Amino acid sequence: MNLDRHGRPLRSLRLSVTDRCNFRCRYCMPEEEYVWLPRSSLLTFEELERVARVFVAAGVTGIRLTGGEPLLRRRLPELVRRLARVPGLEDLALTTNGTLLAGAAAPLAEAGLRRVTVSLDTLRPERAEAFARTRLHAQVLEGIRAAAAAGLRPLKLNAVVVRGFNDDELADLVRFGRDVGAEVRFIEYMDVGGATGWTMDQVVPRDEIVARLATAFGGAEPLPAGDDPSAPAERFALPDGTSVGVIASVSAPFCGRCDRSRLTADGTWFTCLYAAEGVDLREPLRRGATDEELGALVAARWAARTDRGAEARLHQRHRAALYPLEALRRDPHKEMHTRGG
Ligand code: GTP
Ligand code: 5AD
Ligand code: SF4
Repeated sequence: MNLDRHGRPLRSLRLSVTDRCNFRCRYCMPEEEYVWLPRSSLLTFEELERVARVFVAAGVTGIRLTGGEPLLRRRLPELVRRLARVPGLEDLALTTNGTLLAGAAAPLAEAGLRRVTVSLDTLRPERAEAFARTRLHAQVLEGIRAAAAAGLRPLKLNAVVVRGFNDDELADLVRFGRDVGAEVRFIEYMDVGGATGWTMDQVVPRDEIVARLATAFGGAEPLPAGDDPSAPAERFALPDGTSVGVIASVSAPFCGRCDRSRLTADGTWFTCLYAAEGVDLREPLRRGATDEELGALVAARWAARTDRGAEARLHQRHRAALYPLEALRRDPHKEMHTRGG
């Protein structure tokens, strides 16, 4: 087994298939203009399948397709079909903003996708327009229902909680999730990547989220970790049995049990969401390296891994956004929408 310097196994891979997105969420893509990855640098489906096989041989058991918005990548079900047949891959999931899911859910499920997580920060269309510069809110809700109908389960809904924006909707989001058969997860607003407007006072910490849920529903009891101890969400049960997740990436980071890494759409491999540098896998891939050579590169980098990015931020005295805008423009690999959220 490939273990890093803190004894953490390499198990989960987030595979970004495009850096483009049709939303402009304030916590992720707040600017007017972006520097995009050159199209010729994007890994083809053949290359993505090959990389997936190398990672699975190195110990990865779960792949999550991410973006930008992954459904903007054309013919995504074809990639899903290729990945679904990689032997040893136990879990294949997708994180999406949901706008294109109504039409894609059934073909994705048919191609072998197991489950999806949809970002849903608000139930109010006018808020979505102000917050993500989108008028496609109704389409997102339709996409969520289509995913449930296509049997993509467990279905999860991610809500990044931003004080003064959607922190008055926690109970409504939980009720919506319950009605459509999805688990809602509240995520602390992180100071990562392109979140240039981040300030600590906009973060609603886990304890406050749980206290508010307990007030709204008459209690919220912590649930045991379950069979995946590295899962980022802590789960709570409400009195009616509904479960809710909270991802405390700011106030209580999960670095100590982090088994994930991420590959950008151009084949740059990052062993932490907060890592400054990644490993270029595209170059050896296109130069003709063998699977063994690629696997050795991955194993060597993982063995040297010491990353605890979110934890390191805990001890910052004057905490502000991780990068200034100029640094993001110079290197779009630092963006959250390039790293896959
Ligand atoms: P599951 O397999 O369902 O547990 O998926 P997941 O929770 O890993 O996937 P998802 O894409 O829904 O990610 C949830 C949120 O966790 C993201 O939106 C991020 O806010 C946060 N997150 C994901 N990866 C990392 C990471 O490497 N470090 C930190 N600190 N936060 C992360
Ligand atoms: N803080 C927390 N979560 C974020 N995401 C993107 N940017 C941030 C941020 N600054 C998450 C969204 C989405 C996923 C792809 O990435 O929750 O669900
Ligand atoms: Fe797009 Fe996702 Fe970033 Fe929102 S969080 S801008 S949906 S990539």
